[in-house]
Amino acid sequence: MSDILQGSVLNLTHESKGVVKIGHFPVFIKNSLPDEDIEYKITKKKSKFAEGELVRILKENERRVSPPCPYFFECGGCQTQHMDDSLEIEFKTESVKNTLSRHIKNIKVNTCVSKHLYDYRNKSVFHVREVDGDVHIGFYKDKSRDIVDVNYCMIQKPIANDIIKTVRKLIKTYNISAYNEKSGKGYLRNIIIRSNNDNSEIQVVFVTNSESPINKRFVEDLVHAHQMITSVIQNVNQKRTNLVTGRESRVIHGNERIQDKLLGKTFKLRHQSFYQVNHGVTELLYQEAIDRAQLTEDDIVIDAYCGVGTIGQIASPYVKKVIGIEVVEEAIRDAKENAELNDRTNTEYHVGKAEEIMKQLVKNNVQPDVVFIDPPRVGTDKDFLDAVLEVAPDRIVYISCNPATLGRDIKILSEQYEIDDVTPFNMFGKTYHVEAVCSMIKKTT
Ligand SMILES: C[S@@+](CC[C@H](N)C(=O)[O-])C[C@H]1O[C@@H](n2cnc3c(N)ncnc32)[C@H](O)[C@@H]1O
Repeated sequence: MSDILQGSVLNLTHESKGVVKIGHFPVFIKNSLPDEDIEYKITKKKSKFAEGELVRILKENERRVSPPCPYFFECGGCQTQHMDDSLEIEFKTESVKNTLSRHIKNIKVNTCVSKHLYDYRNKSVFHVREVDGDVHIGFYKDKSRDIVDVNYCMIQKPIANDIIKTVRKLIKTYNISAYNEKSGKGYLRNIIIRSNNDNSEIQVVFVTNSESPINKRFVEDLVHAHQMITSVIQNVNQKRTNLVTGRESRVIHGNERIQDKLLGKTFKLRHQSFYQVNHGVTELLYQEAIDRAQLTEDDIVIDAYCGVGTIGQIASPYVKKVIGIEVVEEAIRDAKENAELNDRTNTEYHVGKAEEIMKQLVKNNVQPDVVFIDPPRVGTDKDFLDAVLEVAPDRIVYISCNPATLGRDIKILSEQYEIDDVTPFNMFGKTYHVEAVCSMIKKTT
């Protein structure tokens, strides 16, 4: 389509694309690295930037490595396998720093904490699709609804890959049809596998395009082949939607939940509940969050966006009371039961939007000393931040999976809070995504 151009890569975008400039006009080129001279083609031109495709590397960055995964250049799941680990860490540190600096001048960002860059994902979401009469199981291509049919994914835990291998065979044996997105026909849409840290409990969720029950023998053969599967759920999703799961779920083998341990506390999880995907990095992240909170025995702590109660329950032995807030009803049911399981008598949970519950707590004169904030990628709602500023806790610890919304939100809090340094955590190795923790102390005047 377009001519082949030459350029030098200057730096990386937050999505890890190399930036080449034509005059002042930036072109973003996937899989190119800083300090490389490259040939590229323009694939999409917008008014302020263009997207390009790497054609040939003329001078290579010495920290470029050959991606170990054979699907890397096709699959949209990973973006940084062509970087050695030290370059990935540097990229994530810089990426967090650049994004936050747009909101807070001179913010100090520590080196990204990183381990388990492969084989880490304890929750795998495989798409199942019918393509020309064949069953494809895998992940979306970059910016596409087409599936890369994978035999193995290097960032999933190996047990998930083993289970998918068996499922592939059983789909053939029992002639189970795969979903076709265009026609809306076909039975099996997704397979979600979640395992605890030592693989002693594994949950498999089959998302189906119909209410008809899954073939019993198919499930029996699967759990016979993988006896660590302690929970099999059928979830029904008949909607033509991007959302993976539907509202209706039923247990078809074993328990409704699996159980894991984090920093000495036990957490049971229903499939609807959020849980961090990289166990080793999560423990480091939560320990850092708790250390930064400087907890004392008289503290009242709010654990906002609490999921199944992880951060608050790990913090609870050191404080007077923990109040958890979470919008997903199933997660709050898990949180309450986890509190019992962990013998925590100083926790209280509220189901609802953090912005609404927080306002309610302020009305009821709840005066927290510490607020943990751990929202989804969109960050918090302005009403939530206003309520936090009104109640003005001494300390705030903000855990974020999106530096852009972290920057936006801490800028608002910085009216009344001194912002400490920020530590990024490599929760999502070999992708451009990054987690970060930031703490704040109330200004004295
Ligand atoms: C990044 S997760 C953190 C969960 C938990 N703190 C943990 O570490 O496991 C964000 C959580 O916020 C919940 N959530 C999303 N929007 C919310 C809202 N408006 N109010 C309260 N919770 C919300 C999600 O269901 C999810 O459990």
